[in-house]
Amino acid sequence: MWSKGTPVKTPDEVGRDFNEYAKAWAEQGYGLEVEWTGDGIVRADGSDEVKRPGDEWGSPDALRRDYAALIKKFGLTGDVNVVEIGAGGGRSTQVLLDLLGDQNGEYHVIDVADVFVDTLRQRISRPLDIHIVTDVDTSFLTKNSIDLVLAQSSWSHISFYDQYRYLRDLRFALKKGAPIVVSGLFVIGTGDDWTWNRYRRRVYQIDHRIDGVFHEFTSISLLAEMLNRLGYTDIVIFNHGFTARRGTLIDDQFTKEVGNMTFRYVPTLPGWLDGDKGVVSRVPVALPVVKPAPKPLPARAVASLKRRTKAIFGS
Ligand SMILES: C[S@@+](CC[C@H](N)C(=O)[O-])C[C@H]1O[C@@H](n2cnc3c(N)ncnc32)[C@H](O)[C@@H]1O
Repeated sequence: MWSKGTPVKTPDEVGRDFNEYAKAWAEQGYGLEVEWTGDGIVRADGSDEVKRPGDEWGSPDALRRDYAALIKKFGLTGDVNVVEIGAGGGRSTQVLLDLLGDQNGEYHVIDVADVFVDTLRQRISRPLDIHIVTDVDTSFLTKNSIDLVLAQSSWSHISFYDQYRYLRDLRFALKKGAPIVVSGLFVIGTGDDWTWNRYRRRVYQIDHRIDGVFHEFTSISLLAEMLNRLGYTDIVIFNHGFTARRGTLIDDQFTKEVGNMTFRYVPTLPGWLDGDKGVVSRVPVALPVVKPAPKPLPARAVASLKRRTKAIFGS
């Protein structure tokens, strides 16, 4: 069902579409995604790694490498309390739980697709706090209790308004300095062919009223501005995600209070984990400061301009 007037979906509409996806999954016979090119996704046909809904979105080995390095980089020691947004069939959950091992503290899953999450329930035997929501809702989380928020391949299904609502509300649950890691986000403004191709594909879907699971987009400036205004620190943006730490709890701020809105840009998350420092940038990105609007012209000058325009263009 299309919402009238806008193709942006509400969280419960996204949940309905993922439930449908999970139900229809066996009929699709998806191969494992092995590469993402400007032309589209390359799949390994006949791979026996795809056993459950969601397995097709990539090998857990790549996630394992990234998450192990993230745990080290963020110095997550002792009991680690996690919130995972959009755990779906539990591909990412399984990897993170395995890596945390004895360090597992509370593990909250927030998702909008109950049927899809049944796959996660079958996959993972450890008790989890599963919250199936119909809108952005983090009210069940305790203040200052969370050490890590992970959103794997889910943020691109969340509209940029709801991304803001999550980022705003999660700050209360995150401990000060605790990180949020979002991997799987389509950021426009980095000149990435893959992302632009997905954007064109999305426009095609709108033109042809093709419904189903699809991706939302954001821009690098919007993301950087949002994180800065919400007081996040150590902001690192990749072409498909970002990490940032909770700063001081504040309201959304005006520019003059935020000061310099800076962020680091590194092309890829694995690159950053391997030591690529990228570049530090700021918003507005390489734009001049807006000057005050010029004063209106005096009436005589306007009349003269009109006369000259008429002389040249005849009207
Ligand atoms: C592509 S799946 C990713 C699942 C898993 N993290 C993985 O990497 O295999 C995206 C998941 O995000 C969930 N999702 C979409 N919008 C959401 C929202 N607003 N809040 C929480 N979860 C959401 C979907 O229901 C789905 O389970």
